[in-house]
Amino acid sequence: MSRKHLGFGIDIGGSGIKGAPVDLHKGKLADERMRIDTPKPSTPEAVAKVVGEILDHFDWSGEFGCTFPAVVQHGRTRTAANVDPSWIGADARGILESATGRTALVVNDADAAGVAEVEFGAAAGNKGVVLLATLGTGIGSALITHGRLVPNTELGHIEVDGHDAESRAADSAREREELSWEDWGGRLTRYFRAVENLVWPDLIVVGGGVSKKFDRWSPFVDIRTEIVPAHLLNEAGIIGAALLAHDD
Ligand code: BGC
Repeated sequence: MSRKHLGFGIDIGGSGIKGAPVDLHKGKLADERMRIDTPKPSTPEAVAKVVGEILDHFDWSGEFGCTFPAVVQHGRTRTAANVDPSWIGADARGILESATGRTALVVNDADAAGVAEVEFGAAAGNKGVVLLATLGTGIGSALITHGRLVPNTELGHIEVDGHDAESRAADSAREREELSWEDWGGRLTRYFRAVENLVWPDLIVVGGGVSKKFDRWSPFVDIRTEIVPAHLLNEAGIIGAALLAHDD
């Protein structure tokens, strides 16, 4: 494969940092991904060092895309709901570029996954309004229409029943409160009804590890919008970040 069809994506999460070269034409990883535990504390400098190790491992010297689980505005991280607070206001792009010596694009994790699902996954070819919701430690959202992303929608933090939505409807809330699939499905119904009234999506794609168990809980989600599981699963962030870096 020619090198120009290749990109590189890195997915920074609360527990692991994963990266791989990506075949940009097929929307698939071009090599086995590498995963390193997220350092504790996950300060920008410590995380940037791991990102550099992953790039070195693959001998990747070009530009790369990198996801981050928070608001990312023009390369700067603005929030840190589930990561070290020292990221708030940090020049993430600058830190990653000076630590690695490569050009970086930094993007919200759900936004990257949404771009990948629309290009190559569960919403491929959909020209309407697609909402990707990742259900994990938090709730991430990506809003895409005609293939164009509106970044940083942060629909995981809308208020539902007097609470920050992700504190009650994320997969971590299901685990923490030991909710049955039916009870959690009820929480998701409340959550997605609020969201569908705000943005009226044509399709909701659900990502995050629990999307693999879609058949267990989706019968309990009673909303008007079509809802489907993500296809690219834990590779979506890497693929989307690589695509966005290439198109930047
Ligand atoms: C953050 C989002 C992120 C999501 C998933 C939320 O708590 O605010 O920026 O996309 O978690 O990681």
